[in-house]
Amino acid sequence: MVPCKRVAILGSGTGSNARAICDFGRHHRDAYEVALMISTSLDAGICQVAREYAVPLALLNKGNDTRVELSLLLARHEIDTLVLAGYMRLLPTAIIEQMQGRVLNIHPALLPDFGGKGMYGIHVHEAVIAANSLKTGATVHLVTPAYDEGAILAQAEAAVPQGATARDLQQIVKELEHRLYPATLSAFLRSE
Ligand code: GAR
Repeated sequence: MVPCKRVAILGSGTGSNARAICDFGRHHRDAYEVALMISTSLDAGICQVAREYAVPLALLNKGNDTRVELSLLLARHEIDTLVLAGYMRLLPTAIIEQMQGRVLNIHPALLPDFGGKGMYGIHVHEAVIAANSLKTGATVHLVTPAYDEGAILAQAEAAVPQGATARDLQQIVKELEHRLYPATLSAFLRSE
C-alpha cells in the first residue's frame, strides 16, 4: 500500500475548515493523515480541533522567526503538504520552496475577484456585498509568495441572496468550504 501523505494544517481562525479536513481524513483513511496542526495563538479554534482529533499541536511563538520555526516543524514531522486554513499572513517564500510548492490555501471568494492584500475573513464578504455581486463562493489554490495568486485548483459558488449581510455570506461560504477543501486536498494528493 502507498504510504499515506502527511498533511499539516496552519491556521488562526475558528478552525472550522481544519475540523472539516480532519473529519474527512478520519472517514477516508487512505486519503491523507493530518499529522500536525500549527496555530499562531492558543485561543484559536484549531487548538481545540487538534485536541479533539488527537493531532500534535504546535504554537508559533510571536517573538521567534516564523520562517525558521515553521521550517523545523515541517521537517521534523515529515510533512508532505501544508494546508492553510484561516492563516491571514503572507507565508515566507522559503517555506513554499521547502515544500516544493505543495502548499494549499482556501479563500472565501471566487478568485481572482476579491483577493489580494487586506482581503481576508469578513472583509472579503463585506467587499462582495459592497460590489452588489450576484454570486460568491470559495477557491482552493496553490500558494505563491504573493497573496491569492497561485494556480486555482477548485472553486464552488453560491448565489448572494437579496438583502444578505456579510455575516450571512460568511456562513454560506463556509458551508461550501467545508465540502470543497477536503475533497480538493484529497484529489490534489492523488494526482501527485
Ligand atoms: C475561511 O473562510 C477562509 O476562507 C478564510 O478564513 C476563514 C477561516 O475560517 N481565509 C482567508 O480569508 C484567507 N485569505 P475557519 O478558521 O473557520 O476555517
